[in-house]
Amino acid sequence: MPPRNHKQWMKAPKVEHISSEIYSSHDIYKQEQENIFSKVWVPMCHISEMYGMGDYRTIQIAGHNVVAVNTGTGDVKAVKAYRNDQYLQPAGTMSTLPSGEPLHCEVKHGNMVWVTLNENPDCSVEEWTAGAFDCIADAIDTEELEVFHYHKAIIDTNYKLWHDTNSEFYHDFMHYFNRVSGFNDEYFARKNIPFDNGHVNVSSFTVNYEEYDGFEDRGELSFPNLPPNQWYMVDLFPGYNFNLRGSAYRSDIVTPLGPNKVMIEFRGYGLMKDTPEERASRIKAHNTIWGPFGRNLHEDLIGVAGQGTTMREGTERRNILHGRHENGTIHDEVGMRHYYEAWGRAMELDPSMRMAA
Ligand SMILES: [Fe+2]
Repeated sequence: MPPRNHKQWMKAPKVEHISSEIYSSHDIYKQEQENIFSKVWVPMCHISEMYGMGDYRTIQIAGHNVVAVNTGTGDVKAVKAYRNDQYLQPAGTMSTLPSGEPLHCEVKHGNMVWVTLNENPDCSVEEWTAGAFDCIADAIDTEELEVFHYHKAIIDTNYKLWHDTNSEFYHDFMHYFNRVSGFNDEYFARKNIPFDNGHVNVSSFTVNYEEYDGFEDRGELSFPNLPPNQWYMVDLFPGYNFNLRGSAYRSDIVTPLGPNKVMIEFRGYGLMKDTPEERASRIKAHNTIWGPFGRNLHEDLIGVAGQGTTMREGTERRNILHGRHENGTIHDEVGMRHYYEAWGRAMELDPSMRMAA
């Protein structure tokens, strides 16, 4: 094929694609808040962050202030706080429930606290997640979990780019750690498995930690019912990610702050019953990969920030290809296609924006 010129690149390609406009448009951002974030179940925090009676956590969903409170014995209530409500810290303890509109709330999947702004949700959390957590259920639901790590990142990029980076694995070539510890036959045979409602999970493989200088085998401290050194990932529509890597478990929760800005909250989990020595090993295993100074996570953040700069408002619209078909294996873009189909249905909009061309 002869080299293509600019005009040809701008034509609709013959493979699946989406438009960069859906990452940069203010109107689309506003519509996402309405059509997606105001409707879905959001895993806002973990029960271990609010174990005592009156303990609360807050989150903003689609611009609304949401407070979840432990009313005692593990029962959690959530409200959409009124605008004139007293100022609340992100977390703390209160004596009475704040005034506001009651929200549907459930504690599910490793005891995450799930809320939805939807006044009449048409499904439970179990139905919404549609089996995407089945692959790790025995590992996260057998023992009580506890959050041992929290940090957040505010990145000048679109929230979907964060979810994309957790869904496509060809960017693994960017991570030195993954190149040396992960690229074995099992890695390339992993499958992307789509579930209803736009969710995907990525099946497990064995990570060869000892290939990386200074890293240790994690088999001894694996999560319950998890074979040594396995790695599973659950990508939940529209932007929540659960990542189980041997001895450490991580969740990423996105809060879009604009078309070009996202807050991502990262949590690391261990088992409540960990001894101090076990906990120290888990924290080390988590932070050396996924802490702010770890081997891996900051590379993803730099990656998505760079992608974001190329598709800001005012940049020329271009086509982003999702055309890799490799029998559903790790670098097949089936996860991306599945996500954007769900996105298109929720938004009632073709993500390739063909109609507007
Ligand atoms: Fe990555």
